[in-house]
Amino acid sequence: MKKIYLPVAAALLGVTLPVLAVDRGEMLANSCFSCHGYDGKNTGGAIPPLGQYPASLIVSQMKAYRDGTRTGTVMNRHAKGYTDEEIELMAKYIGKQGQ
Ligand code: HEC
Repeated sequence: MKKIYLPVAAALLGVTLPVLAVDRGEMLANSCFSCHGYDGKNTGGAIPPLGQYPASLIVSQMKAYRDGTRTGTVMNRHAKGYTDEEIELMAKYIGKQGQ
């Protein structure tokens, strides 16, 4: 049995983990798109699309929501779960969508 599982484990470690590392910003950003529109291209509605926002603006606003210096309805709670690094990764990914 070990002979069967070891190559599978090696393949998963070798292939899957680097892919996850590269796409971490995208994975984090996917949690935003349910409200802000797929790839940040929401049209209409009260929630602003983020695809045209520069990454630096997304970072500053996410930190403001997280720290409570900007108030909103859902964003304060949503922003609280992320570290600085995660906010920068997701902002970089989202900021590219409008280009
Ligand atoms: C549950 C829906 C929802 C999700 C999920 C969500 N947002 Fe929001 N977002 C909103 C709403 C609603 C607003 C308007 C402010 C408020 O009411 O909190 C907003 C506002 C914002 C703003 C300010 C836009 C502006 O014009 O100033 C930014 C930046 C933002 N969200 C980023 C994000 C990011 C990044 C994520 C993913 C981590 C995310 N949001 C996930 C609903 C959501």
